[in-house]
Amino acid sequence: MANSNHPAPNIANVPLFHGMDAESLSRIAQAMKLRTFRAGEAIFHREDPGQVMYVIHKGRVRIRITGSDGQEVALAILGPSESFGEMSILDNNPRSADVIAIDNVEVFTLQRDDFIQLIKTWPEISIEMMKILSSRMRTANQMVEDLIFLDVFARVAKKLVELSEEHGEIDADGATRINIRLTQQELASMIGASRESVNKVMGYFTDKNYISADKHKITIHRIAELRKRIY
Ligand code: CMP
Repeated sequence: MANSNHPAPNIANVPLFHGMDAESLSRIAQAMKLRTFRAGEAIFHREDPGQVMYVIHKGRVRIRITGSDGQEVALAILGPSESFGEMSILDNNPRSADVIAIDNVEVFTLQRDDFIQLIKTWPEISIEMMKILSSRMRTANQMVEDLIFLDVFARVAKKLVELSEEHGEIDADGATRINIRLTQQELASMIGASRESVNKVMGYFTDKNYISADKHKITIHRIAELRKRIY
């Protein structure tokens, strides 16, 4: 299981390995291999066979599915210390989604047999894995609920409020600038809508001066009005 191509990764902060002692962490780290992907590159595609799982060391990845009409839905964006690719390892089915590098990404990979052996050796990993899968299922359930019960205006408003809570910076005028670059296509894929319908909603919110956008960065001027639009 040992791999001498790179220094052993520091995986103490990885939720999956939460609570493990230093010696166990070091043995797991030795079984991992470093791989790098450039921004925009596919780490793998839906329906590919899956033999490894991944822990992100640097950068972010988008987990996405694409409909037959080409419309994309982003199921999640994952960053450092988060893991993916465990589903194919556990259920032996092909990959359930595409995983695309958003930034230049470094990941540590673990082969199926090594991962299964780890779970058998340290059952705590199964508990942590179930916590991660439960949390993802809650998020997925929320996404289904929003898709069924909220119109596109409400879904855009909700996502902008969430993004302002995660990435917002208050500027001198008291407005909240969302400090990540976000195209209308990316926003559309986060809420399961077409780019055209998101464009209409953004135009409406801009006309009302709830928001403004500059070089793919969005500023929220009237967050209370956006919150009212969610329900
Ligand atoms: P796997 O099916 O092997 O390959 C795609 C991976 O994307 C999957 O494992 C999970 O790790 C991840 N994934 C799939 N669906 C979701 C989701 N709804 N939320 C977060 N991650 C997901």
